[in-house]
Amino acid sequence: MSELQEQLHKRRTFAIISHPDAGKTTLTEKLLLFGGAIQLAGTVKGRKAARHATSDWMELEKERGISVTSSVMQFPYGEAIVNLLDTPGHEDFSEDTYRTLTAVDSALMVIDVAKGVEERTIKLMDVCRLRDTPILTFVNKLDREGRDAIEILDEIEAVLKIQCTPLTWPIGMGKRFKGVYDLRSGKTHLFSAQHGGKIAEGEIIDGIDNPRMDEVLGDQAQELRDEMELVQGASHALDMDAYLAGKQTPVFFGSAINNFGVRELLDAFVQYAPPPRPRSTQQRAVSPSEEAFTGFVFKIQANMDPAHRDRVAFMRVCSGRYKKGMKMRHVRTGKAIQVANAITFQADERRHVEEAWPGDIIGLHNHGTIQIGDTFSEGEALKYEGIPYFAPELFRRVVLKDPLRMKALQKGVLQLSEEGATQSFRPLKNNELILGAVGVLQFDVAAYRLKDEYGVDAIVEAVSVKTARWIECDDSKMLERFREKNYEHLALDGDDQLVYLAPTMVNLNLAQERWPDVRFLATREL
Ligand code: G4P
Repeated sequence: MSELQEQLHKRRTFAIISHPDAGKTTLTEKLLLFGGAIQLAGTVKGRKAARHATSDWMELEKERGISVTSSVMQFPYGEAIVNLLDTPGHEDFSEDTYRTLTAVDSALMVIDVAKGVEERTIKLMDVCRLRDTPILTFVNKLDREGRDAIEILDEIEAVLKIQCTPLTWPIGMGKRFKGVYDLRSGKTHLFSAQHGGKIAEGEIIDGIDNPRMDEVLGDQAQELRDEMELVQGASHALDMDAYLAGKQTPVFFGSAINNFGVRELLDAFVQYAPPPRPRSTQQRAVSPSEEAFTGFVFKIQANMDPAHRDRVAFMRVCSGRYKKGMKMRHVRTGKAIQVANAITFQADERRHVEEAWPGDIIGLHNHGTIQIGDTFSEGEALKYEGIPYFAPELFRRVVLKDPLRMKALQKGVLQLSEEGATQSFRPLKNNELILGAVGVLQFDVAAYRLKDEYGVDAIVEAVSVKTARWIECDDSKMLERFREKNYEHLALDGDDQLVYLAPTMVNLNLAQERWPDVRFLATREL
């Protein structure tokens, strides 16, 4: 096997999808702990504390600085090299969260056993579905009272439309939580609460009929046997093809905060989750084992270092090898650039990277020339597909304090939308400028950056837009009619694409009913 083959087969690049408070941060820490990157357990938490502390910009920026260093975490686990991409979740939820999911090979879904499938998880799952991303599921907080395991699986299947295959099963819950039974090995792992940074292995009992089960578990042993008969009869066998196609999810139960069930999860993850796979470009599919380097940019982070005002473009390596000092072609601009100072995001420092392999994420310094979705190659003119714009869910009107600064405002807004920080819309009916985002913090960031970087004093205020849809129609005459009739709801985005801005969902539904041959798209490929 070539070194490239060897390296790429080790890679497992993934992200965690969950609703806030389900336990993503806790689980991330534990994964790092089990992966041996112990020095990191703790920093992730610190970030969350900071996040809640203030919305003041300088703090926010500091926080971003921290969040970027931990926004990609690489750690070895056994033979594997795991890249965990952070998906900002609380107030810092943004389109970056969505786009990050286009750069992973699989995802881990965390569900709170008491709350079941929540709204944010549904949205993130929709994004995963765009690329049929394989998903492992962890049902968390079994040390607390929650819903029945069978009920949770039913809900996942019904709401998220994905088949569940439990690979472990909880024994009791809350005060009666005794451990998990591994359906594959027939072994029972007994629970012992372990907060903090220690990893201690609890007792393992081999075989469900082992008398030791009755000794330790009492009545719960027989309950488990009965339940297992039921579950094994009713649930689907693990089907790797269905998992890899995003149609079936293996499910694990545990308690992240107690380090419980995490080892099983991580072992299964490196065993089942796919290494980098071929990706499509507009021209052809590119295999990760091709010798020529290729990669694409899925996120741009600005102002990470206030002293340098730099922006960093996050690139996912898709094929070949990145080597420090190599020349690569920025396909959109046609320019060749020499990259000697790409950075990695290991541990809590930014380090220069010597080499990187498919599945790895590297950071390129960017002074405004790189855009989200850009492809880099060793020469071939390729354009990676699948970096979508998502219909914003929040909208604000930008109002200038000094009307003479309109040009500067437009320039700033354009730049911000190229970076993917916010999207901008110009209504056909007037000269307003409307910003769209999926996270409310994005507006604060936009207003601050407009002032700081473009000298534009603007305020953002409420506007009566509920959602946006990109408009497409194959019949140009009909499109023209549609435009005339819906003039007051239409706008152009930063790329001059036609967008319908709906004041209510009811309005949107009516418009869709009235115009069945017009496509109202919630995502648009870059
Ligand atoms: P998030 O990143 O998905 O938002 O969730 P996070 O890990 O921050 O966890 C949310 C809350 O749930 C935290 O409590 C965390 O300690 C708790 N938690 C995580 N895993 C478990 C678990 O297995 N069992 C139980 N009982 N709780 C769990 P918090 O009070 O919000 O924060 P903190 O004060 O503990 O930091």
